[in-house]
Amino acid sequence: MSVAPDDIEAAKASVAIEDYYHEGRLFPPSETFKAQAILTDRSLYEAAASDWEGFWAEQAEQLDWFERWRSVCDWDQPFAKWFVGGKLNVSYNCLDRHVLAGNGGRVAYYWEGEPGDRRVITYSELLDEVEHFASALRSLGVSKGDRVAIYLPMIPEIVVSMLACARIGAPHSVVFGGFSPDALRDRINDAAAKVLVTSDGGWRRGAATPLFENAASILAETPSIEHVVVVRRTGEDVSGLMRAGRDHFWHDLVAGANPHCPPEPMDAEDLLYLLYTSGTTAKPKGIMHTTGGYLTQVAFSHRYVFDLRPESDVFWCAADCGWVTGHSYIVYGPLANGCTGVMYEGTPDFPAKDRWWEIVERYRVTTLYTAPTAIRTFIKWGTEYPAAHDLTSLRLLGSVGEPINPEAWVWYWENIGGGRCPVVDTWWQTETGAILIAPLPGVTTLKPGSATFPLPGIEAEVVDDAGRQVERGGGYLTLTRPWPAMLRGIYGDLERYRETYWTRFPGRYFAGDGAKVDDDGYLWFVGRVDDVMNISGHRISTTEVESALVDHPSVAESAVVGAKDETTGQGIVAFVTLKAGIKASAEHARELRDHVARRIGPIARPKALIFTEELPKTRSGKIMRRLLRDVAEGRDLGDTTTLADAGVVEEIRRRAQTSPTED
Ligand code: WTA
Repeated sequence: MSVAPDDIEAAKASVAIEDYYHEGRLFPPSETFKAQAILTDRSLYEAAASDWEGFWAEQAEQLDWFERWRSVCDWDQPFAKWFVGGKLNVSYNCLDRHVLAGNGGRVAYYWEGEPGDRRVITYSELLDEVEHFASALRSLGVSKGDRVAIYLPMIPEIVVSMLACARIGAPHSVVFGGFSPDALRDRINDAAAKVLVTSDGGWRRGAATPLFENAASILAETPSIEHVVVVRRTGEDVSGLMRAGRDHFWHDLVAGANPHCPPEPMDAEDLLYLLYTSGTTAKPKGIMHTTGGYLTQVAFSHRYVFDLRPESDVFWCAADCGWVTGHSYIVYGPLANGCTGVMYEGTPDFPAKDRWWEIVERYRVTTLYTAPTAIRTFIKWGTEYPAAHDLTSLRLLGSVGEPINPEAWVWYWENIGGGRCPVVDTWWQTETGAILIAPLPGVTTLKPGSATFPLPGIEAEVVDDAGRQVERGGGYLTLTRPWPAMLRGIYGDLERYRETYWTRFPGRYFAGDGAKVDDDGYLWFVGRVDDVMNISGHRISTTEVESALVDHPSVAESAVVGAKDETTGQGIVAFVTLKAGIKASAEHARELRDHVARRIGPIARPKALIFTEELPKTRSGKIMRRLLRDVAEGRDLGDTTTLADAGVVEEIRRRAQTSPTED
């Protein structure tokens, strides 16, 4: 991964903490919160500092193991193995052991569909469904080690599918339902998945999205797929697209399935899942997560960061299972801890802008975990929507996915948390598997906008360009020791794993994030310093969008940058040079934006597209992204002395000012 020095300068300049944090208030845990909190002292930090391996072993002991591990951590940098020799099963830990302990009647999920249909699913019921579907997968020939792709909306079957895979030891690869058919095809092929689980559709703002139809359009190009399972959700007639022998309805399969499917004993280091995420190249990376360390750390972090009381909490992580947040904090962490969760299928504004608050009120949600982009959207909509509902059940709020600006933090704290609920800002990544940097709400004094400190057992340092630790001030966030839920590699490309994360600063994992340490040692994240954009908390790489653009027959060259956006954090701005003889027009710009949405998915549709005769390049031919970002954000252009032709920039700026930005 290449990080130009000017990128970190730009990242640092974009957030001068002193100016940004004019709020100045400190938020120590209140006496009321502390009186009920599971942890109010520094004992966990101390335990981890005095015996790091012993600390993680103690966390792993919270799970049920069929066989105990021989060693806690084998570290052959950059390759880690955790709980080596241990055997366990993730679905057993998430389901059976709670049922065996007499908690089968506890609600696992309150599920709410977008049209308003509801299901209450207990742990016993979930186990029953998982066993049925696990047997069904086996009957389709899926066995330990085979990959299963899952392309589903936020319906209970997505959780059932994930756990059924875990039960039989078949790694799953969940593909976000908002991704395009092309994106689905590429992910299926990279993983060589044997089975695809999808549905006739899913509901979004009252309309059905055609998931099976999307899938059917690419199945001729996915030679590894032997069977497709189709859940009925929207009732769309898809039978005409189904191919006999290959495609099966979910309900037909489970009706005839063996209701008993014993959990496969898995090695701690067996692959649990793949999850594709955008890196700095056009090709998404299949991030590998394994069994024992991952489950240990998601359960640990879920318990302590969210001050969990499994018998009484109602935990709502309002993410989608298509992203890592859903994997770790809708499915694996909460279920391992035996807690009750909420799952919602649709958007926050359907049928009205108070849908979330209605859900909080109905299920007496105690803990809400969401992204800053959602909070900023709620700010825009106005306080009347949350104010119309009883939100007094809430006791803790969480934020994830991008830096939270202090204004949004304070708004969340006041208007959603009623001034009672700590707001935990949690930093982590698809690659880290679990939250690494966050407060402990009964212990840590909060500063709005800061993710505060590494969790117990996590060792992080901010370093400068030369890899020297920065005690105070800005730099790059690195991790100096392995952690149980860390990625084990990039599927099919171990060298890329080393190169991407471990070469920029030898001996350190480099996350790609800029961060700053303030005078009290608090960490402040300032955004990515590489070519990864963060749009509404979703990672999209500039190169991925660029390659989608140049894939269009009219495009000669393109450069894409993430420009600041008040609501979505960043918005995608594309600069495009057309091939000779092709005329630029507003209509053509729309066609290109749509083309990107078709290639990748609607989340990658550029917010603005600017045609330009040439792109600004250094004398060595490198596109000057910082400059384009300045243009896109309307900033003064500063030093352009390394530019091959300064006139190009003036021309681009003129065009940027006259190009329409779309919604
Ligand atoms: C960003 C999402 C600031 C960061 C869990 C990281 C954050 C990327 C925070 C990972 C936070 C996530 N504060 N930035 N609390 N949480 N990020 O893989 O840039 O989708 O590298 O995982 O999101 O995104 P990913």
